[in-house]
Amino acid sequence: MRSKIVSIAGILFGLIIGWYVFPYALYRDNTQPLQFSHMAHTGEKGGMACEDCHSTNDNGRFQGIPAIAKCAECHSSPIGETENEKRLVENYITPNKEIPWLVYSRQPDNAYFSHAPHVKLGELKCEECHGPQGSSEFIKTHQTNRISGYSRDIWGANISGISSNSWVGMKMSKCVRCHGDNGRRDGCIECHK
Ligand code: HEC
Ligand code: HEC
Ligand code: HEC
Ligand code: HEC
Ligand code: HEC
Repeated sequence: MRSKIVSIAGILFGLIIGWYVFPYALYRDNTQPLQFSHMAHTGEKGGMACEDCHSTNDNGRFQGIPAIAKCAECHSSPIGETENEKRLVENYITPNKEIPWLVYSRQPDNAYFSHAPHVKLGELKCEECHGPQGSSEFIKTHQTNRISGYSRDIWGANISGISSNSWVGMKMSKCVRCHGDNGRRDGCIECHK
């Protein structure tokens, strides 16, 4: 009886380490350089479209997070009264410095991804892969993997890998699964160049 209790306690202990302690040890919390509200821009008041900031250049190359010049078009001096905007103007726009945003979806260098075929040809919505970030009020902490350097969003917060939303996690298995659903059978070289 006693040994049974001990072994159950041992299993529980292992589960707790695996589920809670290990992820904490694996990820380091990094705060974004500036708080940013998508909603202030994409909501009714702002009225901006995603493409206004996340544009594609003439060669079809997706521009990612906009450069500070884009922000300066409206914020060369504060238009509101918030602390965040003041910080934006004083720390970045006036000295003309780029904001070192931490990218949640950044993939390792050996994986190749391009937005154009997915958004234009595949007609996928941003939300399908990124979730509701485009309408978020604030940005969350970047949980950086101490070994690989990419964010926890790549593997998903739940270490079991079971997820209810299409945008949780973006591991290789996820890319390959959706490609399979779309009748694609890609060789390794398609994504690893
Ligand atoms: C005013 C400019 C602006 C507009 C308009 C805008 N964004 Fe953003 N977006 C940003 C900035 C700045 C960041 C970096 C900060 C952050 O992560 O939120 C960002 C980051 C993102 C990211 C995070 C990428 C990553 O993995 O870190 C996603 C996803 C995104 N935007 C989607 C959208 C969608 C969808 C829309 C339209 C509904 C949209 N954005 C409209 C400026 C904008
Ligand atoms: C087309 C004009 C426009 C552009 C371009 C623009 N913004 Fe704004 N921004 C606004 C408006 C309008 C508000 C709301 C002002 C208010 O009422 O406080 C706002 C508010 C903000 C705020 C304060 C809201 C808060 O959360 O405290 C921040 C910070 C901000 N913008 C950052 C940025 C950044 C970073 C960029 C560049 C990626 C950018 N903006 C580009 C129009 C713009
Ligand atoms: C098929 C899934 C998918 C769709 C659809 C998608 N994205 Fe992405 N997005 C990704 C992946 C994967 C990355 C990381 C790319 C990398 O690091 O090489 C990314 C990166 C980004 C980044 C960060 C780029 C950087 O490194 O600065 C932004 C911003 C972004 N996406 C916005 C958008 C917006 C806006 C849309 C809709 C117009 C969209 N995405 C549609 C998968 C997707
Ligand atoms: C939700 C579905 C979906 C997800 C997730 C997805 N893809 Fe795709 N991908 C597509 C579709 C659909 C196409 C084909 C678009 C077309 O040519 O019509 C495609 C095409 C591609 C292509 C070929 C582009 C070309 O020029 O022909 C590459 C490379 C690619 N995806 C890489 C990735 C990587 C890497 C990931 C994961 C980070 C990923 N995809 C995630 C749906 C997806
Ligand atoms: C549809 C795109 C796609 C295809 C096809 C693909 N990969 Fe990947 N692969 C990725 C992405 C994205 C990552 C990075 C995310 C991750 O680690 O899951 C990755 C990561 C990897 C890694 C590193 C794992 C790690 O944890 O860093 C290896 C090894 C790998 N792939 C091998 C292969 C081999 C071998 C094939 C062919 C049988 C293949 N891949 C086909 C997208 C793809």
